[in-house]
Amino acid sequence: MPITHPSFGTLDPDRIIVFDTTLRDGEQSPGFSMNLEEKLRMAEALAELGVDVMEAGFPIASVGDFESVQAIAQKFSKDGPVVCGLARTAAGDIARAAEAIKPAARGRIHTFVSTSPLHMRVKLRMEPEQVLELVTSSVTMARNLTADVEWSAEDGTRTEPDFLCRCVEAAIKAGATTINVPDTVGYAVPEDISRIFTMLRERVPGAERVIFSAHNHNDLGLAVANTLAAIRAGVRQIECTINGIGERAGNASLEEIVMALRTRHDAIPVENGVKTPNILRTSRLLATITGFDVQPNKAIVGRNAFAHESGIHQDGVLKDKSTYEIMTPESVGWSTSSLVLGKHSGRAAFRDKLKSMGYELGDNALNDAFKRFKDLADRKKVVYDEDLVALVDDEVVRA
Ligand code: KIV
Ligand code: ZN
Repeated sequence: MPITHPSFGTLDPDRIIVFDTTLRDGEQSPGFSMNLEEKLRMAEALAELGVDVMEAGFPIASVGDFESVQAIAQKFSKDGPVVCGLARTAAGDIARAAEAIKPAARGRIHTFVSTSPLHMRVKLRMEPEQVLELVTSSVTMARNLTADVEWSAEDGTRTEPDFLCRCVEAAIKAGATTINVPDTVGYAVPEDISRIFTMLRERVPGAERVIFSAHNHNDLGLAVANTLAAIRAGVRQIECTINGIGERAGNASLEEIVMALRTRHDAIPVENGVKTPNILRTSRLLATITGFDVQPNKAIVGRNAFAHESGIHQDGVLKDKSTYEIMTPESVGWSTSSLVLGKHSGRAAFRDKLKSMGYELGDNALNDAFKRFKDLADRKKVVYDEDLVALVDDEVVRA
């Protein structure tokens, strides 16, 4: 049955809400904090990318964070993203988040509390019944301040199942419209995620009225796989960040989830509103703002994501790109794939590269140049265009 949501109206059961937390959880990674102007630039790019919800910050954390959330909330009309502020259970936190999102055409308060035995005992020093009361009081207060309220069970995947069901039931009763179960420490495997969401959807009264959300951290490198498992188990909001930035090993990467959903629509037939050709430029903007490049082999946005060096692969790609590319580079914002010349490259790519540079050598000259290219490639990691010009000019003079 379709869900009616205060910010999105009646939702198509196959529509995934993309909740970006680059500006909140992403910003929590060491060295990644952004000032107001930088957050505003990122917020604009995220809106152009087509995210549905943007978690803009944690308003109680600092005056700067409050002002950033407020400025971002002012920026967008009702056709833009929902702007969300994070709050713990304390009344002061929730009031501050409500004030920060007040100017938003569509705003959300996201309130959370830890529910795992370890966090309740060691961090909160509370009994489960006390935590349950906090769930009710915090969601009730948030709901009196805004119609769109998300509640999260921090460390949800290490929470005792019956207690998790009771907390979720309390949050729904108090008026939460989205229920998020974070894998806060990146401990879960996809089977855990499937089991938890299936259980909640089957057992908790009122579950059919809310949107379930997944928020997976990447400590074991499983954040994206866990997010896909969550979608298969009925979750319709996914929380993620650009370039997968976030606490410790990061959050699930937006670009990887979105491209997995697009490339494997046959396996997971759901829809989302992300304009994938904007992915690369959003990733680059974040790298420029934070000063942290993504690693070369990062899926989708890394420098090598669409680069081919080995002769066998280059030969295949020259014949038909789909031999070694499962999505087009253009679909995520690259102008094209690249054939990088190195010691593994073959004659076909070498000839093709020379041709693209305006050199057409006869067979003998090509053989000679190719041999000298291989000698050079053994000495250098990558052979650049300038090296080829020198190599071929020499060949032309010698011919
Ligand atoms: O990882 C986490 O548990 C969080 C919550 C605050 C949602 O980021
Ligand atoms: Zn998190």
